[in-house]
Amino acid sequence: MTLPDLTRRDALRLGALAAGAGLLAGALPATPAAAASRWRTPSVLRATDGVLALTLTAQQGLIPFNGTRRWAMTYNGTDLPPQLRLRPGDLLRVRLVNRLPQMTNLHTHGLHVSPTGASDNPYVMVESGSSFDYEIRIPRNQPVGTFWYHPHVHGSSAPQVNLGMAGSIVIEDPTRPSPVPAGATDRTIVLSDPVLGTTSAVARTTMMDQMHGRSGTFVLLNGQLDPTIPMTGGRLEFWRLINTSVTRNYQLTVDSADLHLVGTDGGPLGTALPRSTITLTPGERAEIVVRPRTAGALAVRDFGTRIATLASPGALPAAALRTLAPVPALATVDRRRTLTMVETGGMMGGTPTFDGRPFDAARIDQRVSLGTVEEWTIANTTHMAHPFHLHVWPYQVVARSDGSALPGWRDTVLVPANGWVRIRIAFADIRGKTVYHCHILDHEDAGMMGNIVAT
Ligand code: C2O
Ligand code: CU
Ligand code: CU
Repeated sequence: MTLPDLTRRDALRLGALAAGAGLLAGALPATPAAAASRWRTPSVLRATDGVLALTLTAQQGLIPFNGTRRWAMTYNGTDLPPQLRLRPGDLLRVRLVNRLPQMTNLHTHGLHVSPTGASDNPYVMVESGSSFDYEIRIPRNQPVGTFWYHPHVHGSSAPQVNLGMAGSIVIEDPTRPSPVPAGATDRTIVLSDPVLGTTSAVARTTMMDQMHGRSGTFVLLNGQLDPTIPMTGGRLEFWRLINTSVTRNYQLTVDSADLHLVGTDGGPLGTALPRSTITLTPGERAEIVVRPRTAGALAVRDFGTRIATLASPGALPAAALRTLAPVPALATVDRRRTLTMVETGGMMGGTPTFDGRPFDAARIDQRVSLGTVEEWTIANTTHMAHPFHLHVWPYQVVARSDGSALPGWRDTVLVPANGWVRIRIAFADIRGKTVYHCHILDHEDAGMMGNIVAT
């Protein structure tokens, strides 16, 4: 890692954090009031009269980071761009202005929207210096939940997303029961790990990145290193976790707190599932309820290392968690197919693809019929786990090679090395051509992506 601009003190602090949570935890004041880093919240935009119109300007340059600055690619000059809060039926109008020296575009990850024309069309390319007007209609049957937006240019998705081009989308619907417990603090937490540095060199893609995917050295929450999350007394915390990292998988815990998983990628689970850890593969979201069992500075950890502190004013009573309608299982299957993740070419194993075919936008890899349910087995013959993501149509994970299924609707699932997952996809509605891919975006950029058309 290169950190040319960081002061020696910063470098020491970063070093201490990297060395382990215990070291830094001992050095910080234990009282919640002495917050090391003020919590950042994205601005929120909502539709008026059913229309949300905004401009997102893709740009690059130095942005504030941890008391110093880092080189970033951003929307509107910030790594925490506006949160789009939409309702089923709303129209989202985004003018994407490209001030980057390279192409970009826009994808609404997880939304059940049209992939054609000026909607969530991953084949649209916005040249440097030009702009594009997206018009994305949120359908009435769009589930509530947590989604996100990011660029999707084949070949440059990884650096653009890694350096800061990622924003949150929340679908809410006051006419439907909400998974958010009454009175809870509704908090969005965007997880990222940008490559740190003060020049555009941080956007470089190496051969190693293409093979294994890039990771930054530090985990950031809403762009911040080791922030303190302030709790409001007496309120449960409802967290919308979004893994925007290009490669990193998360395994989150909160010391002395109960966690309940209440929503996945595709919306509310219906029931609250107690969990000791929350896992998130690249692209994946989770909605959880956090209930502290004690007052104090509770460590939020990723694989055991502290990445943030939850400032808890006190224990909360056992959560009165809502039970919503359970997710109905997709019971009948009209067609089955298998997609295989393989490594293609190269002396050292080369880059992974689906079925040995590197991405070609002009080719159609899967043709499906509307009104059917398909069962896909995603087999992974490589020595590395890959997150499988499908645009537009949600799916259920009915079996995995380790013997377990997963609850709820999904759009992203980790396929273990030398293992498989079996998913059932509801091609209930929405026609058009779009993509499925590995959400290690370096792999997507290198060709681990295919085209699907629904007619
Ligand atoms: Cu989040 Cu096709 O991507
Ligand atoms: Cu997507
Ligand atoms: Cu991959």
